[in-house]
Amino acid sequence: MIPAEILEKIGKERHAYEKELMEFIRIPSVSADPKHANDVRKAAEWVLEKLQKMGFEGRSYETEGHPVIYAERCPYKDQQTLLIYGHYDVQPPDPVEAWKSPPFSPEIRDGYIYGRGATDDKGQFLTYLKAIEAILSESGEIPINVKFLVEGEEELGSINLVPFVKKHKKELEADAIAISDSAQFASGMPTICYGLRGITYLQLDVYGPAFDLHSGHYGGAVANPANVLVEILSRLMDNEGKILIPGFYDDVIDIEPWECKEMASLPYEEEAVKKHLCIKHLKPEKGYTPLECMKARPTLDINGIWGGYSGPGTKTIIPSKAGAKVSMRLVPDQDPEKITALFKEYVNSISPEGVTVQMTEFQKNHPVIVPRENDTIKAAFCAIQSGFGKTPVFIREGGSIGIVSDFKNVLGIENILLIGWGSPDDGAHSPNERFSLEDFNNGIKSAAALLYELKV
Ligand code: BES
Ligand code: MN
Ligand code: MN
Repeated sequence: MIPAEILEKIGKERHAYEKELMEFIRIPSVSADPKHANDVRKAAEWVLEKLQKMGFEGRSYETEGHPVIYAERCPYKDQQTLLIYGHYDVQPPDPVEAWKSPPFSPEIRDGYIYGRGATDDKGQFLTYLKAIEAILSESGEIPINVKFLVEGEEELGSINLVPFVKKHKKELEADAIAISDSAQFASGMPTICYGLRGITYLQLDVYGPAFDLHSGHYGGAVANPANVLVEILSRLMDNEGKILIPGFYDDVIDIEPWECKEMASLPYEEEAVKKHLCIKHLKPEKGYTPLECMKARPTLDINGIWGGYSGPGTKTIIPSKAGAKVSMRLVPDQDPEKITALFKEYVNSISPEGVTVQMTEFQKNHPVIVPRENDTIKAAFCAIQSGFGKTPVFIREGGSIGIVSDFKNVLGIENILLIGWGSPDDGAHSPNERFSLEDFNNGIKSAAALLYELKV
């Protein structure tokens, strides 16, 4: 049970916490953009300074990319140790003109704080810092041992965190890990997530003639890289949503009947989703419900596509090159390395003569399932109940948090709490990203309660 004076303190400091979140959002820590490298570093320093001010011992570690922050406050020999993971990097804000208030000048409107990173993950992560600050100010010490691991490359697939985790196994030893970087199933329905999809991401570049050609003069005799690209892409998936790469489904574990039933019992409002997205129909894979497709089926998406002329009017050319970015979301037990190899083999096998098809690999992360029944989950369940005043539901999530499978496989920690305070309509990665002030406050209360619930 969380002491009453701590809840009171969290209530009293609400506005100060909101101001602090705004300060954090003001640092444009876009990890993907080299122009923001210094800002990403500033965000790392901001986090480290907060931790050090609260008596955590730690430092910033250089990597080949953005820094990793590790800090700990472990006053007990015989007490539980919780490792809290979060990320201080954010997605690029574009299209900037679609934002009602600028992405890095946060604004509070109608109970929400708007800005890039508000929910993903600055706001959600900050709940732990504020919870611990409140506990320390009221009781002088935290009830259990706490370690922090905060990175600046989550949005890039945590490429440099993997070697860090391998190298720092000892420091990272813990009984449980808490991550608030997902979302509630629906606004006002707190959620414990027990699975994440994995991902593999590739770029296709199709090269034809050395320069753009007159399509009247050469057309018909020279392979057009844009035509070839769309032909290849069209053969990756059929119109019922089935992915056509041979072997793609070999390791997919079917959703079990109990899980289908559980998902079907959740109040998923398809009409509201369509309305929110301004589309008339959803297009789930044949044989599956939209929810099953979003949480527990693999996908293949073209994330971007380019080539040739797209300016005003017309230009009659055969472009010399064309390209696309393609990602596949993976489910247990698909292996990102194996799927990447199958993808490349298949694309090579359907690529015609007359062009060169180049494939570049980006992030590869494993899907993961974590236990949903043990003492750690029970502690989280109670903490969320006291923070949100509601009983949490269990779901799997369609997104990926790259490092989670390594926590399980490298550190050997199975007790991983994926307890997102956000909401699916927060607009993570979209313009006008936001975080509800209510969820922020309930998240802080839940985070504080978690430390007490985990105490033995
Ligand atoms: N916080 C998300 C992951 C997430 C989203 C989990 C929704 C559960 C529900 C994270 O910041 C993210 O966006 N991850 C990327 C990973 C990718 C770059 C490897 C993703 O899922 O696209
Ligand atoms: Mn995130
Ligand atoms: Mn994200």
